Amino acid sequence: MTTEDTSKNKNQEQYELDTLTNDRLIKDHEYDGIKELDNDLPGWWKWLFYITIAFGIIYLVRMWVLDADDLYQEREYQAAMSEAKTASPQQAAEFEIKVLTDEASLARGKETYDKICQACHLADGGGLVGPNMTDNYWIHGNTMEDMFQIVANGVIEKGMIPYKDQLSPTQRLEVLSYIIVKLHGTTPANPKAPQGEEMEWPY
Ligand code: HEC
Repeated sequence: MTTEDTSKNKNQEQYELDTLTNDRLIKDHEYDGIKELDNDLPGWWKWLFYITIAFGIIYLVRMWVLDADDLYQEREYQAAMSEAKTASPQQAAEFEIKVLTDEASLARGKETYDKICQACHLADGGGLVGPNMTDNYWIHGNTMEDMFQIVANGVIEKGMIPYKDQLSPTQRLEVLSYIIVKLHGTTPANPKAPQGEEMEWPY
């Protein structure tokens, strides 16, 4: 108690003291007769502050000096992507737009065709609302890429619906393969008149 008192007295010139409690007041600091106590900040508060300083320094060093990968969203994204690729290499294999010729794919293609496409292109591909799939005339091109694009995005103004939300890329490949392998070149019952240009068959 006595030591405390002397220390307070020693600092008398530096601080003003509250007349009632003898607590330290901020010197030369008064507003409308109100003075403020010169309390020390609580330890937990100071520690929080020190931690944020340390965090800031470490962050800056890691970012600017060490160039740490995990601080860049772009690199984090790429790392996650390559991780996913090694996790499932099959899925990551480059998707290739090409005619599928295995019977299982063609059977799945037929299923999709009979369920969706035949309403407009007819089950035997002869064409109704949509063009004949069996002849060599094509409006939008007859490569797999051309057709893949049409099935994905449709030709809305002409009545061909986009299927990219309804059919996965693989399903689109399957149904187009079915058209190319199984329907094209056959003789439908009631073929629709040719539409578009005659094209050399690329397959
Ligand atoms: C609601 C009717 C309708 C349905 C259902 C439909 N189509 Fe079509 N399709 C059309 C019409 C109409 C066109 C012609 C578009 C044009 O004139 O540009 C067309 C054009 C196409 C073409 C381009 C033909 C060319 O000559 O270039 C392909 C390929 C095609 N459809 C595939 C499909 C597939 C595959 C499905 C099933 C997943 C399907 N269509 C379902 C109406 C339909």
